[in-house]
Amino acid sequence: MGNAAHAPVYRRDMFSRSGIRDPYPHYTALRELGPVVWLSRQRVYALPRYTECKAVLRDDTNFISGEGVALNPLTNRLSRGTTLNSDGADHQRRRKLLAHRLTPKALRAMSAAVDAKAKAVVEAAVARRHVDGVRDVAMALPLAVVPDLVGWPEDGRENLLTWAGATFDSLGPLNRQWLRTTPAAMSMLRFSRRVVRDRSVLAGSMGDDVLRAADDGALPRSECSALMIDYLAPSLDTTISAISSALHLFATHPDQWQALREDPSLVANALNEVVRLESPLRAFTRKSVTDTDVGGVQIPKGSRVLVVYASANRDEREWDDPDTFDITRDVNRHLGFGYGTHGCAGQGLARLESQAILRELAARVDRIELTGTPTWAINNIIHRYDQLPLELVPA
Ligand code: HEM
Repeated sequence: MGNAAHAPVYRRDMFSRSGIRDPYPHYTALRELGPVVWLSRQRVYALPRYTECKAVLRDDTNFISGEGVALNPLTNRLSRGTTLNSDGADHQRRRKLLAHRLTPKALRAMSAAVDAKAKAVVEAAVARRHVDGVRDVAMALPLAVVPDLVGWPEDGRENLLTWAGATFDSLGPLNRQWLRTTPAAMSMLRFSRRVVRDRSVLAGSMGDDVLRAADDGALPRSECSALMIDYLAPSLDTTISAISSALHLFATHPDQWQALREDPSLVANALNEVVRLESPLRAFTRKSVTDTDVGGVQIPKGSRVLVVYASANRDEREWDDPDTFDITRDVNRHLGFGYGTHGCAGQGLARLESQAILRELAARVDRIELTGTPTWAINNIIHRYDQLPLELVPA
C-alpha cells in the first residue's frame, strides 16, 4: 500500500485467536514501532500510544465516526443510525434522547435497587463458595439491570448475551470470528426491528422513550431499532468484563484486596484501574476526512485509523509501571471508556454496577482464590474472561 509509506508496518495479526487471548505482546510491539503503525492484515493505521489515541478521539472534526467505527465496511454500513456511528448534530440529537436516563441524578435513583441486587448476587455466590466468577458473579447483575432499563421484552432475553457479544465481534475485521458470529448480530437487529414494530418494549423504559420520540416526530421511525441496540449491545459484555477482570486481579493480588477491604472508599479508583489494566473494549476505528499529521506521521484523507484504547492504557510513556495493578494510582485519565464526544454514555451505570459488586464482596469476602485456569472468551473487540474458577473465602 503506497499510502503507508510514512508509517512502520506490522504484519502480525492482533485479531488472531492467540492475539485475542493474549493481546499485550502485540500492543507492546506496536508501541515500540511508533506512534502510527500500518497494520498490513487489516489495512488500517493503528494508534497504539496514549497521546495520539487521545488526540484523535478529541479531534472529531477530522476523525469521524459517521462512516462507522468498525474494522470492516459491511458492519459500518449495517450500523448506520446508531449514536456510536454518527457525527455532529445527528450524534448530539441521538445521544441527548436517552442521556437523561443515565445522568448522575437518574443513576442515584437507581442505586438502591442496584445495591440490593448486587447484595443478593454476592450473598448467593459466597454461600456457594466455589464459583465461576464470570457466570455466578459478573454476569448476574448486568443481566438483572440493563434489559429492564432498556425495556427489552422478556421473550428475547435468552439470546441477549450471544447477540450482544456477536454485535461486538461484527465490529472487528472480516475474519473467521466475524463470519462465525455476524449472523447472531443480524438476529439482534431483526429482533430489535420486530420489537419496534410490535411496540413490545417495557412501559417506562428507554425503549419506550425512543418510540415516543418517534411518535412526536423528534426521531425518524427508521432509527428506533438501531437506538435500542445502541444501549443494549455495549452494556453487557463490557461490564461483565470489568467485574470478572476485577475478580481475577484481586485474586492474584491479595495485598490489593486487603487494601480495598481496609479502605472501601478506594472502590471507585480500583474500578478505573481495572478498566485501565484490562480494558474491556480493545479498539474502535475512525475515518480521517482530511490529510492530517498524527505524531509526525502523515495520515491521508479517507484512511481508517484504529484507536487502540487497551494499548494506550498500558503505554509506558504515560504510565509508571503500566503492567502493575495498583488501586491507589492516579488513573482517572485512562481511555478505557473512550474520550471526548463519543466517550461512553453508559459509564455511570457501569461504575454503579461494578462498584456495588466490589463493595458487597469487600464486606463479605476475606480472600478470593483462583482454583483453576481461567479461559478467555473469543471476541474481536471485547476482552473478557469466559471462565474464571474461584473460591470466595468468607470473612
Ligand atoms: C465497563 C463497562 C464499559 C466500558 C469499558 C465501555 C467502553 C466504551 C467506550 C471505549 C466507548 C467509546 C466508543 C468510541 O470511542 O467510539 C463507549 C461508548 C458507548 N458506550 Fe460504553 N462502555 C461500558 C459500559 C457501557 C454501558 C453499561 C452502556 C449502556 C448502558 C454503554 C453504552 C455506550 C454507548 C451508547 C456508547 C456510544 C456513545 C457515543 O457514541 O456517543 N457502555 N463505551
